[in-house]
Amino acid sequence: MLKDTTSEEFLKAKVRALTDSDTIEWMQKKAGEYMRLMSYYRCAIMEVETKFHVLNEEFSLEHDRNPINGIKSRLKEPASIRDKLKKRGLPLSVESIEENLNDIAGVRVVCTFLEDVYALARSFLMQDDVTLIKMKDYIASPKKNGYRSLHMVVAIPIFLAHEKRMMKVEIQLRTIAMDSWAALEHQLNYKKADVPSVDMENELLMCAQLSAELDQRMNALRKTVWQNEASEEETTGISDLSLRQSTK
Ligand code: GTP
Ligand code: MG
Repeated sequence: MLKDTTSEEFLKAKVRALTDSDTIEWMQKKAGEYMRLMSYYRCAIMEVETKFHVLNEEFSLEHDRNPINGIKSRLKEPASIRDKLKKRGLPLSVESIEENLNDIAGVRVVCTFLEDVYALARSFLMQDDVTLIKMKDYIASPKKNGYRSLHMVVAIPIFLAHEKRMMKVEIQLRTIAMDSWAALEHQLNYKKADVPSVDMENELLMCAQLSAELDQRMNALRKTVWQNEASEEETTGISDLSLRQSTK
């Protein structure tokens, strides 16, 4: 069974596993504040997950199919937070984490078809409590290695007993094909020192291209089966979304 990497129990075990004295000292002094901040991020993840579940529910009522295949969420682990701040020469503090890191809370939405990625992103970003901070469309412009996904960093409010807090969440939307390529590429790259890397890079790029073709072809099949759904012109492309966002 998959571990719940967003749970408090998991996080505490990860904090206990840290071994360097600087971080341990900081964690001991700031444990309360740190756990509180992480709990706010957990709440933000719940808010984002709920929004996507609601969109999935409504869409499946209207179109008789689910645009979301699965949602996976994670909180960045303490060791990765420490390493990222260190690497960027930023201070290790609760304020610095909140101000400088966009990917403490991560939600990955795996969609059924290519058009679902854009349709869901569009509906999500149009909600009036969602503020788009940053978007990278690696589907329209894949990374050099072939990686594809739609990335967004958003701020959304969480409502506590006496305050409303804006929290940042990194959201990755991708198809099943994009997700399986990314998962396998990630695993292969752990071992990349053992194989000629240029060959592997080329092969991975070819696989990414096959995966992109698979998405196009499955999407075309979707159109023939569900002809009543909105046309491609209406649901793909994200270029106008940031515009809509700023005029909200
Ligand atoms: P970092 O989060 O520091 O990497 O900076 P960034 O926000 O500029 O990164 P980017 O938006 O490009 O990617 C962030 C996340 O996307 C990573 O943590 C991965 O989950 C995923 N990702 C990006 N590139 C790749 C890739 O080449 N392969 C795989 N498997 N995942 C990737
Ligand atoms: Mg990251």
